[in-house]
Amino acid sequence: TTTHRIAVIPGDGIGKEVVPEGLRALAAAAKTGGFGLDLVEFDFASADYYLEHGKMLPDDWFERLRDFDALFFGAVGWPDAVPDHVSLWGSLLQFRRRFDQYVSLRPVRLLPGVASPLAGRVPGDVDFLVVRENTEGEYSSIGGKIFEGTDRETVVQETVMTRTGVDRILKYAFDLARARPRQRLTSATKSNGISISMPYWDERVERVAEGYPDVATDKYHIDILAANFVLHPDWFDVVVASNLFGDILSDLGPACTGTIGVAPSANINPERTFPSLFEPVHGSAPDIAGKGIANPVGQIWCASMMLEHLGEPAAGAEVLRAIEDVLGRADAPRTPDLGGNATTADLGIAIADAIR
Ligand code: NAD
Ligand code: IPM
Ligand code: MN
Repeated sequence: TTTHRIAVIPGDGIGKEVVPEGLRALAAAAKTGGFGLDLVEFDFASADYYLEHGKMLPDDWFERLRDFDALFFGAVGWPDAVPDHVSLWGSLLQFRRRFDQYVSLRPVRLLPGVASPLAGRVPGDVDFLVVRENTEGEYSSIGGKIFEGTDRETVVQETVMTRTGVDRILKYAFDLARARPRQRLTSATKSNGISISMPYWDERVERVAEGYPDVATDKYHIDILAANFVLHPDWFDVVVASNLFGDILSDLGPACTGTIGVAPSANINPERTFPSLFEPVHGSAPDIAGKGIANPVGQIWCASMMLEHLGEPAAGAEVLRAIEDVLGRADAPRTPDLGGNATTADLGIAIADAIR
């Protein structure tokens, strides 16, 4: 039997509460799917590790993680102890860059039994993929501060778009769109106001689209696109966006599906030179951490995406089916964000038990 080697990195806050539920589902899927899991847990990429070691990661993190088949990640950030830019740039953003996980794939789907805040929307109305550029764009380390402490204090942070970086995310998104029944791709732009990088993005979309005559392509400026997520979520199939725009859309989309607690993400290195990383869209949620009430569905859906990536598509589909099966039941254990008073473990156990 095949055994998949997974690095487990729970991180901070509710990351430590939802990761065990993801592992519970993975164990159930391995049992019924007939494959093995070799899990190795790491305590770095957390505020506790930082407070003890003065850094977020050990110096040899790259060597220690690079040979795993995948990384199963919770969430990082504990702003009361470590400034967010220090904890995030010292961990998660290093993983994305050094492992060249240039695709952030973030499904947005209204699940059965979950109420959308959008009036009248039912499952099927909201079902699209956000494809977020994950290694460059607005998240650049190029810039600086001059005349600090004076009236002339000036801060600059550059947006970086490379031909390689833009084209590869667009191709990934077009390939995905081509394989879906609706074959529709929407690009997020802002070429009216951001007058250098965004017209370049649009130009590359037009160029790459020439290779995909079967895919219907449109584009919206990010402001009206955000509005249309709320007003017309049924218009969207695959939405491709730069790093920052994709970040914002991938919280807005799940908000339209009731709660960001259900939203998964895959940070993918499509060439498989390095391991891909699977983490929920949400963060460490300090406001509810320690209470055992975080919704584990985002993390469990990540387990589904990870299994698909590992070459276990049937097991991945089964985990998602179990999520939908449980949430669709009238008596499902619902965490507070889903309108109930169930615990993280109540919902996690119900889903693991539903895996066949
Ligand atoms: P957040 O996603 O942690 O929380 C936003 C709101 O959503 C909170 O009210 C929280 O209680 C709620 N929420 C989030 N996940 C939930 C779940 N599974 N179930 C129920 N409710 C849930 O965003 P934030 O408050 O902006 O950030 C908190 C910390 O997490 C910061 O340090 C931030 O930098 C970090 N963060 C990390 C990641 C990541 O590791 N990928 C992502 C986003 C934010
Ligand atoms: C996400 C998060 C991160 C991002 C933060 C924590 C740096 O919001 O994964 O969506 O902006 O990419
Ligand atoms: Mn985000």
